[in-house]
Amino acid sequence: MSYMLKALGIQVLSNDYMWMSSTFTKALVENNDTTLGKEASLRLLKPSDDNDHFVATKFKGLYYEDEENEMIDTLRANIKKIENEYERAIAMMALIRACTKKRPRGIFTYTGHRYDDGRKDLRKSVEEQFMEAVELIDRAVFDNGRQNASVNGDALELDAQTPDLVYIDPPYYSKNSDNEYVRRYHFVEGLARDWDGVEIQEHTKTKKFKSYPTPFSTELGAEGAFEAMFDKYSDSIIVVSYSSNCLPDRERMIELLARHKKHVEVIPIDYTYGFGNQASAKTHRNRVKEYLFIGY
Ligand SMILES: C[S@@+](CC[C@H](N)C(=O)[O-])C[C@H]1O[C@@H](n2cnc3c(N)ncnc32)[C@H](O)[C@@H]1O
Repeated sequence: MSYMLKALGIQVLSNDYMWMSSTFTKALVENNDTTLGKEASLRLLKPSDDNDHFVATKFKGLYYEDEENEMIDTLRANIKKIENEYERAIAMMALIRACTKKRPRGIFTYTGHRYDDGRKDLRKSVEEQFMEAVELIDRAVFDNGRQNASVNGDALELDAQTPDLVYIDPPYYSKNSDNEYVRRYHFVEGLARDWDGVEIQEHTKTKKFKSYPTPFSTELGAEGAFEAMFDKYSDSIIVVSYSSNCLPDRERMIELLARHKKHVEVIPIDYTYGFGNQASAKTHRNRVKEYLFIGY
């Protein structure tokens, strides 16, 4: 969304409390002109004296083969030494993409190769995936003539002046499903922050770290957070993506927005979650509506 708005020529301030997300927007939204290039990327694949072998040790046998873990550590060590913040963000984004592509389903809630269907992406090496990712990201860098920014932090604490429009895409809270992004992506989120400031839960099989606290993970919390956001941005157009099987529900969300906005529109979008196999994707449970609430 941030990237699309940037492409429309709008000045964008993008925020997420996960480091991987804010790294992506650093590379592609805030960054207007820096690319990494093939030569520099190839140099990042060369063995480093500063390799701490952290991934190879801590995650041995969990997600990747030993030599793949070593390559991830080499890249980590070399990426840390990149001085330019945008080049560093591009390289880190490429490493994260490489790791995600080489992981069946792209998530880290299980260990081993359970969902390996032999697809091409899984057979490519970390090096190949990394190089392809850098090329892709480099090609996506562009200047929209504005000064855009990527912020890592809690949305409720974000200090945005008076934006014309605020788009909110929070995790969807529901009693029956888990919306926890850190639990799914802890390994790549760990890469993005170099496991700095987090404590790995050693007793877990996946060696995940504790999820970040967010109000969007409880019913009351989510409602309170929406209220606070709507209050804070009462002078801006507000757009919220939310799912039909989640809380607050459609009526409640309209009520909350109507406290600050004269007009509230709801645009329902039919949406089938593509996650899981074909059969389960067709079951009723996965057929939900995605709502766009617009308050102005
Ligand atoms: C539905 S996803 C949206 C992802 C985003 N649109 C993207 O494409 O990367 C919800 C996002 O909200 C973030 N999040 C959850 N609670 C947050 C909070 N309190 N402050 C900032 N970001 C938060 C999660 O890290 C996650 O990336």
